[in-house]
Amino acid sequence: PPADAMRNEPDTDFDLLPNQEWVRRIFTRWKKSLPDHPEIIPLQIGNETVVCDRRHRYMDRCQNDEVCVCEMSQANTEQVNRIIDIAEKDPAGWQGTTLEERHRIMYEAANRLAEMRGDLIGCMCAVTGKTVVEGDVEVSEGIDYARFYTTEMKKFMDLADVDISPKGTVLVISPWNFPCAIPIGGIVAALAGGNTVILKPATVAAPVAWMFAKAFWDAGVPKETLQVLITDREALKVLTTAPAIKHIILTGGTDTAQNIARSNPATPLSAETGGKNVIILTASGDRDHAIMNIVASAFGNAGQKCSACSLLLVERSVYEDKNFQDKLKDAATSLKVGSVWEAGNIVGPMITNQNDKLLKALELEPGESWLVPPRFIDEKRYILAPTVKWGVKPRNYSFGTELFGPMLSVACIDDLQHGIDLVNSLDYGLTSGLQSLDENEQKLWKNSVLAGNLYINRGITGAIVNRQPFGGMKLSAFGGGIKAGGPNYCTCFVNITDKPDSK
Ligand code: SER
Repeated sequence: PPADAMRNEPDTDFDLLPNQEWVRRIFTRWKKSLPDHPEIIPLQIGNETVVCDRRHRYMDRCQNDEVCVCEMSQANTEQVNRIIDIAEKDPAGWQGTTLEERHRIMYEAANRLAEMRGDLIGCMCAVTGKTVVEGDVEVSEGIDYARFYTTEMKKFMDLADVDISPKGTVLVISPWNFPCAIPIGGIVAALAGGNTVILKPATVAAPVAWMFAKAFWDAGVPKETLQVLITDREALKVLTTAPAIKHIILTGGTDTAQNIARSNPATPLSAETGGKNVIILTASGDRDHAIMNIVASAFGNAGQKCSACSLLLVERSVYEDKNFQDKLKDAATSLKVGSVWEAGNIVGPMITNQNDKLLKALELEPGESWLVPPRFIDEKRYILAPTVKWGVKPRNYSFGTELFGPMLSVACIDDLQHGIDLVNSLDYGLTSGLQSLDENEQKLWKNSVLAGNLYINRGITGAIVNRQPFGGMKLSAFGGGIKAGGPNYCTCFVNITDKPDSK
């Protein structure tokens, strides 16, 4: 692998006909899992694999929950304890490998991830309802992480006159909305430092993790070094409170992070959690450009991104302009909505039809109205077309609540400072955007808005490894707000000591 240059992996160009053919082949393969004979994913305990009686069943939401994609074995408490024991004892000796060796293996894993791009995308489409384009971006991001963290660790070692040693075992708990990129980022950051890893992916998206784990095993990461499991609440508590776990990397809900921190205050927790992300559009913004960015940020992955734009604050003269309202409405309603198995659909199903916060926000409070009313397009109410609520006041439910669905709330502001005050009044601080061509406004906003990732005149999702390190502040981050895909991330999971002869 190259010693220093970090080149981001390009996404697939879907305008090319051979790539469209490739997508059709992926769809054919992944759409037709048989209800009676689904693949059963075993539980992995070190080098051993067992098929458990308790299994999670994965149904295809784009096919009315009638097609079973696969089943995955669930670990019980005794099995979880065995997995922890193996991780702690490190029988394969991963903790004794050199950084050079780990760097080589991670680059090899990146190559293997690139080879399985199609199946990773297919699995994400089938299991989580992600669109092929969103899935494709995630695979690129996962490949970037695989190359990035050991490269960064090497740079750090070259600059600092220090020794690093692994902390031991790192537990990575990852979300369903980025089932490929985020867990890969966590495991690579931990593996780079010589730690053994237990990955507990979100149950509803876990087959994706099983699939990419193979890329790491085949590349040379021993199975005892990287173990993947799903389990129940009780055994999860055992896992998150086990003394053998020396660091927890979590991407998930703020309440999950708070619960883990409460139940195990002794173990360091680095968590990227929720967001209620705002774009401000001022009178000096380019409205057409802004609308394009707003719509992409609000409705990509059906709004189910911690980085998604959920609230739009618009300066009064634009807010009251009928032409602006019509254009925003047109942009939201023109997005193609439906099954991810039909290429071209931009908004697919949500992971659940029981998202209480979203369902509550789909009711109007006094003074609110619909610019684009909610419309479910399938019987089971998984697929919600982009929805825009107008006239949302700071005291209203939709204003400060993270909704995780394709609904955008719009509120009126007097001027930029008013908007900044409102953004800063929210509990979260993950991503934030400004649409303004005025340099003074840009400066004011940049220097005063409280959020981890700030974007001017572009969308607010889709941070790229190395270029836009990702992470927030306030309730969006726990454990110091370290940034994934940034230079110091992987050094958080090692012990750093002066070299004995360096003084
Ligand atoms: N990193 C993702 C983004 O920037 C969110 O997890 O959209």
